[in-house]
Amino acid sequence: MNLLNQDVLLSNGIKMPKLGFGTWELPPGTPTQDAVKTALRAGYKHLDTALVYQNEKDVGEAIKIHGIDPNEIFITAKLPPHIKRRNGVFRMHAKTLTNLNVTSVDLYLINAPRPFGVYTGDYDDANAVAWEALETLYQEGKAKAIGVSNFTIDDLENLRNRGLSTPHVNQIAYFVGHTQDALVAYCQKHNIQLMAYSPLARGYLLNNSILIDIAKSLNVTPAQVALRYIVQKGIVPIPKAATPKYIDTNTQLDFTLDASTMARLDTIENDPREWD
Ligand SMILES: NC(=O)c1ccc[n+]([C@@H]2O[C@H](COP(=O)([O-])OP(=O)(O)OC[C@H]3O[C@@H](n4cnc5c(N)ncnc54)[C@H](OP(=O)(O)O)[C@@H]3O)[C@@H](O)[C@H]2O)c1
Repeated sequence: MNLLNQDVLLSNGIKMPKLGFGTWELPPGTPTQDAVKTALRAGYKHLDTALVYQNEKDVGEAIKIHGIDPNEIFITAKLPPHIKRRNGVFRMHAKTLTNLNVTSVDLYLINAPRPFGVYTGDYDDANAVAWEALETLYQEGKAKAIGVSNFTIDDLENLRNRGLSTPHVNQIAYFVGHTQDALVAYCQKHNIQLMAYSPLARGYLLNNSILIDIAKSLNVTPAQVALRYIVQKGIVPIPKAATPKYIDTNTQLDFTLDASTMARLDTIENDPREWD
């Protein structure tokens, strides 16, 4: 069966497609709509969105224009990282539902444990409050699964030590050369499904000579090798692309990296991202 039609099973029994389409930095308006329509035509069944991307409305519009029933795809949405109070959570979630023109999302995540650009300060109480609000959304059926993003082991332990429920998902930066092994082991031990954001290291990974060498030998692209590596790790990649050809070829992952190739990719230790 084609990978586009395969799912992972979350700890609450909800199925999440093994591949998603990322929408960060798609400019609002036609560019987002065109990219999402192209992705839906290519067969993606999973869209990753966030209120802070400022293009949710266009994602909703693209779904409507394409004509697919939103219930037939999996939509991941996220709470802005600076919102931690209960009422704020409900307000932001409601805004997202309106933007996307849906009555619930499949997965709702706390986008980050701290506001973007804030690296110090104790957000443990604030994250517990936000998490309890997500639990309410889940109980009310407004999110079929709930989770977190960018949470470290300490952030996850904070929820656990308070006796709160275990997130169904943690969405983290994960790509060849940046595999966050301790965090991944923790999540797997606690049955928290991992999602890989920036699975191509925002494109910077694709010049890696080992990746290029492996891609040539298998007659695929470096991006396909990078994505297939993540799939074989049991993690759900959500590559973003605006280029129609990339949107399409990033779905063609029905080949296998053998154990020695996986081991070779495991030896890469490198984070080539440039954030500014
Ligand atoms: N939770 C979080 O905090 C968080 C943070 C970052 C990202 N995310 C999510 O994860 C998604 C993916 O991450 P990302 O956008 O950071 O980066 P990414 O998917 O690793 O890389 C996207 C870049 O790679 C290029 N690209 C895509 N496919 C390619 C191919 N086959 N060959 C060559 N280049 C290719 C794209 O080019 P073009 O666009 O020009 O086609 C774009 O410049 C985001 O869109 C977002 O949904 C979440």
